[in-house]
Amino acid sequence: MINIYNWLCNRVNPALFSFQQGQLRRMQKSGGMELQLGGVLAKWLSRAAYTERSSILVQIKELRRESCKSQQKINRLDFGAGNRNLVRDGDFSKANETTLGKIVSRETKPDFWAKLLYLLVVEFKPETIIELGTNAGFSTATLAAGLKYNQNGSLISLEGDPSLAEIARKNLADLRLDRVEVITGLFSDTLPGALQKLKSLQFAYIDGHHDELATETYFEQILTHCEPGSIIIADDISWSDGMKRAWSKIKTHRQVAVSIDLKSIGIVITGKPGGKQNHYSFFLI
Ligand SMILES: C[S@@+](CC[C@H](N)C(=O)[O-])C[C@H]1O[C@@H](n2cnc3c(N)ncnc32)[C@H](O)[C@@H]1O
Repeated sequence: MINIYNWLCNRVNPALFSFQQGQLRRMQKSGGMELQLGGVLAKWLSRAAYTERSSILVQIKELRRESCKSQQKINRLDFGAGNRNLVRDGDFSKANETTLGKIVSRETKPDFWAKLLYLLVVEFKPETIIELGTNAGFSTATLAAGLKYNQNGSLISLEGDPSLAEIARKNLADLRLDRVEVITGLFSDTLPGALQKLKSLQFAYIDGHHDELATETYFEQILTHCEPGSIIIADDISWSDGMKRAWSKIKTHRQVAVSIDLKSIGIVITGKPGGKQNHYSFFLI
């Protein structure tokens, strides 16, 4: 795994680089899904994946770049934990007028992180995915692009803001990505039905309502539909003290076998209740 980026990291911060390499070796030795996950992380951390040309990922990146500049007015219903006035679905009296450009640039994951989601879907080939927090559909498109590559699987993505959900549906249609359904409504209202629809769940991405209790509740709900070997990703795990606590509880949950702490994102692989746990953390150099 010698490439220019790795070589540079080794020069800039040899101690951190060697710590990371040690962790990746530990993952390789464990075998099974841990070995696979280590392979994905090694590829992603070394930026090697950037040399790959996937036209759909380039299209998503371009569309996001254009959307970041968009002056399209949006009556934003903010359901996130950042807004104390949690708005009930459809109550536009508390909506704030803003632009699509501001929303996309502040709230959606840039290309680098999206690439990780794509690599995970391509590697683990989940048949079912749930996403909490569609926004304008960029991470959704990346997950759906992974399913398209696999030619298998379906994705349900949940979004509270109807205008954003509509924009996401249009973006997904423009990108010709199917295998995905965007459902509008509060997570608390839509998650149970979506989980019922997907039945057994193999992959989940929680990227909305970054509140300690809410995150733990969504995680528990999702877990009830997971077999050992499912992947659950929680975003913004260092965003607040509450989110740090939520992540600590998630990664040590008795149904978790492996946890990866990437500071901004946390990934877990589910296991048999009470089984052995392996925890890893990586610092982005
Ligand atoms: C951080 S953004 C998602 C970004 C998206 N995953 C991406 O990277 O492209 C979080 C989204 O979750 C939605 N959201 C937050 N809390 C919610 C809730 N309780 N119910 C429904 N939607 C919610 C917000 O409206 C927002 O669009």
